[in-house]
Amino acid sequence: MTAIFKFTNMKPCCRILLPSKNTLFLPKSSNFLPNPNYCSAFQLHTSAPTSFGLKAILGRTNSTWGQSRIFSSSYHFNFSNRASTRFLVARAAPDLRNFSASVESRANDKNFDRIYVQGGINVKPLQEEKIGADERVEGGVNVRKSECSREVGKEESEMEKEAWKLLRNAVVTYCGSPVGTVAANDPNDKTPLNYDQVFIRDFVPSAFAFLLKGEGEIVRNFLLHTLQLQSWEKTVDCYSPGQGLMPASFKVRSVALDDNKFEEVLDPDFGESAIGRVAPVDSGLWWIILLRAYGKLTGDYGLQERVDVQTGIKLILNLCLSDGFDMFPTLLVTDGSCMIDRRMGIHGHPLEIQSLFYSALRCSREMLALDEGSKNLVRAINNRLSALSFHIREYYWVDLKKINEIYRYKTEEYSTEATNKFNIYPDQIPHWLMDWIPETGGYLIGNLQPAHMDFRFFTLGNLWSIVSSLGTPRQNEAVLNLVEAKWDDLIGQMPLKICYPAVESEEWRIITGSDPKNTPWSYHNGGSWPTLLWQFTLACMKMNRTDLAKKALDIAEKRLSLDGWPEYYDTRSGKFIGKQARLYQTWSIAGYLTTKILMEKPDAAALLFWEEDYDILENCICGLSSSTRKKCSRRLAKSQILI
Ligand code: GLC
Repeated sequence: MTAIFKFTNMKPCCRILLPSKNTLFLPKSSNFLPNPNYCSAFQLHTSAPTSFGLKAILGRTNSTWGQSRIFSSSYHFNFSNRASTRFLVARAAPDLRNFSASVESRANDKNFDRIYVQGGINVKPLQEEKIGADERVEGGVNVRKSECSREVGKEESEMEKEAWKLLRNAVVTYCGSPVGTVAANDPNDKTPLNYDQVFIRDFVPSAFAFLLKGEGEIVRNFLLHTLQLQSWEKTVDCYSPGQGLMPASFKVRSVALDDNKFEEVLDPDFGESAIGRVAPVDSGLWWIILLRAYGKLTGDYGLQERVDVQTGIKLILNLCLSDGFDMFPTLLVTDGSCMIDRRMGIHGHPLEIQSLFYSALRCSREMLALDEGSKNLVRAINNRLSALSFHIREYYWVDLKKINEIYRYKTEEYSTEATNKFNIYPDQIPHWLMDWIPETGGYLIGNLQPAHMDFRFFTLGNLWSIVSSLGTPRQNEAVLNLVEAKWDDLIGQMPLKICYPAVESEEWRIITGSDPKNTPWSYHNGGSWPTLLWQFTLACMKMNRTDLAKKALDIAEKRLSLDGWPEYYDTRSGKFIGKQARLYQTWSIAGYLTTKILMEKPDAAALLFWEEDYDILENCICGLSSSTRKKCSRRLAKSQILI
């Protein structure tokens, strides 16, 4: 006998099929019953409404995603594997939120237990529950109204009101529940391309705006639905990318059923329809960062404690921590695997991915339930955090003094004690940098490879290094000093430059492959992106430089609304609306709102950044001690990295 929940008064319809057999794993608590509020009305066809085993049926005709990619809201659960644990909500999980690294030195950090989900898509269930901003108990979780939802006495300005209206209009629903925001929502744009999709990274500022406003429902739904998409069985030209990959974006599609009805399905894009087939490496990292922020800002820690959510975190980490041919603790990725999602010469170890990786590791360490099954993974996280922060602080950092050092480097040094470890030829220092680097301040370079330093300044990576404390306190301060000293270049007439400077002429031809969108001082090639304002604000607030954030906000406020909330601006100073920029770009709108609320709520902002963790610095798993003949370079450099 099968129980069928059919939501009939809504078009499109959303179906949930619940077989009444298989009561083996039935949760006792009535909290596990499907929430009748999920769609505004439903019919229940069942002879045994209070017992339900679940077996996943997906709205596709066969198991390979290449042939059919839709994810239907109709499903059965299969208890044989991952799904079987889904409803065992980990209420008893220990309070890990204040867990700090207790680092075991010399642990074999490759030796963590990997998790694999067998059966891929066939085990993907959908949690049928709906949450609202109000307090109520669902799925065994007490959802508290946001602790940060207190209305600040201040009246919203006209611009804020407009932004909220636009943001709400950008909300995408799935089966009647909000699940994300489209990338852009320009009513006059007849060719939205893929801007009508919910991008994982683009939703982050929307999520922060909603969370800071006390509206957690959309974020919770987003986190749970994207979790469903994570284990999608993916194939691109007969090749299956790693399990645990989060999509770059998804779309809610309507699929026609018989008898004039249609149902909604989630259709993820893992890069297979993106330009250049780019890998969405940053998606999973952002998902983890958002999950932690959701807990911090709503107080609903139950979500991150759920078994399926814990599994989701572990799957992402498995992908990031798996062995390859790497010589560095930084993540090795292809070009375009982050916010800059087309060829811009950032393949290898781009800073943006490293700083998001570092943040995601710190978030995971806070959120993972510490038990037998996770202890090796947590150890691996701690060791990676420590190696990663050393590597970035030591080798990515440049200021006037360091550039002068590189300028005088000897090359071809065959030794473990080489000063010029990556064999950087001093001629590589670009002419613009010699003039540009200020007396005070410094920054983390964009990328480091053997014999190659990418000296461009990449804003998101530098800002997120401040937010996550990937940089030392002094480095973090120095980055903001550099922004201040180079204000006209990095902020100009619209905050903030995505990177500085642009690549031009022959370099542009070689690096971008003659990309007509990424021409010098446009789009990803030195364009100015208003969405970066919220990250700048968070970094400034952390470093007590709110004055800088305020100054940048004032500049943005003069034009953003008048110009129709563009995606990006062009020219050296950001004077023009970008030549192919979308208008009513959601993350420009949401970035502005998040900036405003962060400034009004410093206590909430403080929940979103990290201070220095001295345990991370102390940890060195290297077996070389100071007493042996060979010296550990990290130990030698410790005094420096502890600054
Ligand atoms: C562009 C941006 C990317 C963003 C997408 C949707 O491709 O490079 O970062 O996610 O647009 O807005």
